[in-house]
Amino acid sequence: MKTGTNMNRRRFIRNTAIGIMGLPLLSNSYGNIAPSDKIRVAHIGLGNMGRNHLNWFSGFSDVETVALCDVDKVRLGEKYKLLQEIHPNVRADTYTDFRHILDRKDIDVITCATPDHWHALIAMMAFQSGKDVYGEKPLSYSVEEGQAMKKALEYNDSVFQLGTQIHAGDNYHRVAEIVQSGLLGKIHTVRLWKTGGSPGLGFPPTEIPPDTLDWELWLGPAPYEEYTPVRCHGSFRYFFDYSGGVFGDFWCHIADIVYMSLQPQGLYSIDTRGKRPDDGIADTPRWIEADFKFKDLDLYWTTTPPPVPGAEKMHIGAHFEGTDGSLTCDYNTKVIHMGNEILDDIAELPETLPRSPGHQRNFLDAVKSRVQPESNLAYVREMTLPMHLALISFRLKRKLQWNSLTEQFEGDSAANYLLSRVYRNPWSLPE
Ligand SMILES: NC(=O)c1ccc[n+]([C@@H]2O[C@H](COP(=O)([O-])OP(=O)(O)OC[C@H]3O[C@@H](n4cnc5c(N)ncnc54)[C@H](O)[C@@H]3O)[C@@H](O)[C@H]2O)c1
Repeated sequence: MKTGTNMNRRRFIRNTAIGIMGLPLLSNSYGNIAPSDKIRVAHIGLGNMGRNHLNWFSGFSDVETVALCDVDKVRLGEKYKLLQEIHPNVRADTYTDFRHILDRKDIDVITCATPDHWHALIAMMAFQSGKDVYGEKPLSYSVEEGQAMKKALEYNDSVFQLGTQIHAGDNYHRVAEIVQSGLLGKIHTVRLWKTGGSPGLGFPPTEIPPDTLDWELWLGPAPYEEYTPVRCHGSFRYFFDYSGGVFGDFWCHIADIVYMSLQPQGLYSIDTRGKRPDDGIADTPRWIEADFKFKDLDLYWTTTPPPVPGAEKMHIGAHFEGTDGSLTCDYNTKVIHMGNEILDDIAELPETLPRSPGHQRNFLDAVKSRVQPESNLAYVREMTLPMHLALISFRLKRKLQWNSLTEQFEGDSAANYLLSRVYRNPWSLPE
């Protein structure tokens, strides 16, 4: 446990309660914090997903929304207005530079819905400043960032939940129960897919950024590029400088059910094929196929649904193939094939996994109890790793051998170089 000036209000209360008496002062369903104690939340990144964060968290009676931040003053103003519509009496402070939020000791939690290239850095700086983080997916921009986040979380005794909201849903819990029950036999293969790919976005001219947008701070650690609107809000996800395209956008939502059900271990080979758009400046995959070999599992990703029962109707999905049956699912549905039977559930199989109180509620409870939540950092880092490795295989156009103990590629210095990114000044990975 780190102590000192970075400790926030909530951890000070908790540590004092435990430290002085040797026992918690307060005993309740949340552990050491009185249920009446409000969690003071700031939201960073107020675009499409940031709007959801604001709506979700401001709806809890034990949350006080105290600050909003976006590098775009227009979006900041819009979301401040939205907050006032929801809670006319709330007066949150507004910032364009997130570091002012991190400087405040009276804030317990930040949520982060910036573009992907900021996720890890903002989270790690927040951990250092004594705050817990509800951060959007994907976890990080690079493998190295994910490793550094895990260390920073542990060192600072922080709580983190990744924004994989579907994880909390009943369908994923039920699929995991069925897969883990053994009724489908040994699962040897899983097929994942997500339709659609990166559009080219044309060849627009560069522009002077609007006065209301701090383009330097939007770019942050990413390489400098002149501004053009398609690089910015929403479509940033189609550029490798900031994100990983449709593949990187959706990987963790659907790979989550594989990790939740099977916790695959011993990834050793990644072979990716695909194509970039040829009609514009966007460079992430228009289509992509990736083959992953784990110790006991073959995992495949495709842009088109695989030829398995039920897949053709799903724009995103997972198909588990076992020795005694198969299961195809998306976020909210599932279909099971066993022999000649087609089922939507197995009635006689009891519930074995505890259900979630809701993804955001689970995080807020974790902030109070200091027990890591469902989509915690250690879990989501493992689950996100193959996505990064597949994008490296895509960029280098070759099959790669991976050592899952050292987290390095075997005999491929170019691939190992791409496990990290060089940050633009003045940004650096926190020590
Ligand atoms: N969990 C989900 O289902 C889901 C859905 C959509 C998006 N997302 C994730 O949310 C993130 C945001 O996506 P979006 O579609 O809302 O993008 P967006 O472009 O609409 O919003 C991003 C916002 O972050 C702001 N921003 C950029 N740098 C910032 C900084 N340094 N400090 C403060 N604000 C900054 C931008 O100005 C913009 O308003 C992405 O990483 C995406 O993967 C998750």
